[in-house]
Amino acid sequence: MVQRVEGRRSVRGRIRVPGDKAIAHRAYVFNAMARGRAQVTGVPRGEDGASMVRCLRDLGVPMEERDGAVVIEGVGGMGFTAPGDVLDAGNSGTVMRFLAGLLAAQPFESVITGDDSLRRRPMARVIDPLGLMGARIEGAEGGQAPLRISGGALRGIEYHTPVASAQVKTALLIAGCNAQGETVVVEPAASRNHSELLLAAMGADIEAEGTRIRIRPGELCALDVAVPGDISSAAYWITLGAAHPDADVTVTAVGLNPSRTGIFDILRSMGADIAVENVRDAGGEKVGDVRSRSSRLRGTVVGGDVIPRAIDELPLVALAAALAEGPTEIRDAAELRVKESDRIATTAAELAKFGVSIEERPDGLRIEGGAALIGTECVSHGDHRLAMTLAVAGVIASGETAIGGAEAASVTYPEFWDDLAGLG
Ligand code: S3P
Repeated sequence: MVQRVEGRRSVRGRIRVPGDKAIAHRAYVFNAMARGRAQVTGVPRGEDGASMVRCLRDLGVPMEERDGAVVIEGVGGMGFTAPGDVLDAGNSGTVMRFLAGLLAAQPFESVITGDDSLRRRPMARVIDPLGLMGARIEGAEGGQAPLRISGGALRGIEYHTPVASAQVKTALLIAGCNAQGETVVVEPAASRNHSELLLAAMGADIEAEGTRIRIRPGELCALDVAVPGDISSAAYWITLGAAHPDADVTVTAVGLNPSRTGIFDILRSMGADIAVENVRDAGGEKVGDVRSRSSRLRGTVVGGDVIPRAIDELPLVALAAALAEGPTEIRDAAELRVKESDRIATTAAELAKFGVSIEERPDGLRIEGGAALIGTECVSHGDHRLAMTLAVAGVIASGETAIGGAEAASVTYPEFWDDLAGLG
């Protein structure tokens, strides 16, 4: 689908974004592993969430969708049943990696695959440590999906992950719930900690000390979860607000977990006027309304510990940088090469079409700044985050932008184009 976006002189609005995908995935899997019934409210309607629900149902978990909520009857940590067919994780790395951790302990064989993009992404990062725990997982050549998993008895290990990845960390914590003895995961930098928070709230024997997380096996108790708005979806509007010359945008009920707010820190370091109001607690996670207004942005250097805290928002940082005064460098972000697309290559190629001077680096991007964006024809490369970043660029650009492959947005944010149309 080609979506046309007109440049706008002024942008005003108040938006409520879909529920946080990362938290919803965890609420589904952990409650499936628990005993008892739980209701997850505020769930996102995107395809990634649907992929998780489909796979868990295929593994024998009763899950029912009711008025925007999902009701789960937990089967217990070892209560899953062999699927009748190949499991399909769709476009979602989270689904594949979490379920690899879950299936590693189940006493049956299963195969999990995904779409073309997911079958190109690295799975050795879960195959290797789960193998050390005792699972037999065979991937295609190069450690890619489909994965054939022969589950069995697992033993706890101490594992130092080579990359900061909450998906890998969580896969090992899930396996650790069903393993013998203690499992310890140590990360090179802190990734998002939704799993640690939710597992602790559900009664897991888990302890986090900086980047070192320890878990012991045990049953989880079902827990109702109210999913806050997804900061990664809110980031499109917040970046638009800051980078557009005449904007005032508020996104309500946004999750504010500090392991996810790197985008605010980066934009603020560039001079953005971002105010967080009405902060409240929602089921162990902070939530607030975020207002973003036109700001004079300056270039910056982005790298180090903030990268995992803003990993999904870095294409937006590149866009903000294009409109800032002076150059910006994004470093330490080689992980972007193995997301739904190679986001270093695709962000550089597509923003260049708007007239942005942008250069690829092995682990990031260098952006010149001071660009006057000109509407253009561009493509999403099948990547939801790129489709939405290009739409934000199109609103700021002069003239018309045509985005090919715009349907990719529905992976996480099916309401995106309606919300964009609704912005005054
Ligand atoms: C996620 C972790 C991140 C992120 C992804 C969701 C999660 O991936 O990019 O969108 O829910 O744990 P990595 O763990 O591969 O960095």
